[in-house]
Amino acid sequence: MKKDFLHLKSETKDSLEHLLERALFFKQAVQNKSCPPLLKGQVLALLFEKASTRTRVSFDVAMHHLGGHSLYLNQSISQIGRGESYADTARVLSGYVNGIVFRTFEQQRLEELAESATVPVINGLSDMYHPCQILADLVTLKELGFDLSQIKVVYVGDGNNMAHSWMVAAKILGIQLVVCTPKEHQVQKSLACFVKDSSVTFSHQATDAASGAHVLMTDTWFSMGQEVTQEKKDLFSDFQINQALLDKADSSCVVLHCLPAHRGEEITADVMDGPQSAVFDQAQNRLYAQMAILERLMGEQK
Ligand code: CP
Ligand code: NVA
Repeated sequence: MKKDFLHLKSETKDSLEHLLERALFFKQAVQNKSCPPLLKGQVLALLFEKASTRTRVSFDVAMHHLGGHSLYLNQSISQIGRGESYADTARVLSGYVNGIVFRTFEQQRLEELAESATVPVINGLSDMYHPCQILADLVTLKELGFDLSQIKVVYVGDGNNMAHSWMVAAKILGIQLVVCTPKEHQVQKSLACFVKDSSVTFSHQATDAASGAHVLMTDTWFSMGQEVTQEKKDLFSDFQINQALLDKADSSCVVLHCLPAHRGEEITADVMDGPQSAVFDQAQNRLYAQMAILERLMGEQK
C-alpha cells in the first residue's frame, strides 16, 4: 500500500525519531557530497495552491540530491484553476510521477487528492497542518543538543497550522509544549481534545508562558488566505517575541520561526537576527527533513 504524509497523527515516537535521524544523516551526506541516489529516475510533482519559498525549493533540491527530478504546478498553470477536480488531477498525475507534494487550503482537499492518487502524497502545508516544517524544527533542536524530553517549548501566536502540528508532535514525543494564543485565536477544538492529558498545555499570557522556556517560537499572525486587519493586529500586540519576552526565558533559550517572518509584528528584528535565533538553520534543515520524508515514502519504489 502506498504511504502518505498528510499529518503527524499517525506517527509514533519511534517513527518520528527515525525521520529525525535520517534527516541528520542526509545533512552529513549532502555536506560530504556523498548522497546516495535513492530516488534515481523518480519524479516528484510540486502542486501548490499557495505561495512558497522554502517548501518548494527544499523539495526540488532534495530530489536533485537524491538523484530524481521535480516539477512545479500551481492553479494558474494547471487545470486545477479551471475546476478540474483534485481526484481527477491525482489520477492523472499518478500516471506520470512517483510522488506529489500538495500545498493547499482545507485539509479535505489533501485527503481527496491522496485518496485518488496511487503515489505517495505529502502535505506541503494546509490550513490545518504543516508537518514537514515541524520535522525541520525538531531536527534543529536535536542538532543544538537539546534533549527533547527535558525541555520547555513555548509557541506564542496564532492557533494555526504550525501550532496544530507542533501539538501533535509534542504529544507523540512527550515534549513539554505551552501553546500561548489570544483567547480569540485559539487552536481548533479537535486538536485541543487530541492533546488532552498530554504534555501540551495552553496559556493566554505570553510573559507567564515564556518563563523558563528553552525554546520560544512563533509564526505569522496572518496565515496565507487570511484577511489582514488592524483589529487582529491589536489582539496580538502582547504575543510578540521581543527581547523583553526572551529575557523571561531560560538563558539558553533558542528562538524559532518557520518563516516568512513579519519583523515588528510576531517577532522583532533584533531577536530574529540576534544570537539566540536559529531561524536560518531551521530553514536550511527543511532540505534534510524533506529528504528523510522522500526516502520513507518513495525510497522503496522500483
Ligand atoms: N516555512 C515555510 O513553509 O515556508 P514557505 O511558505 O516559504 O514554503
Ligand atoms: N501559518 C503560516 C505558515 C507559513 C509557512 C501560513 O499558513 O501561512
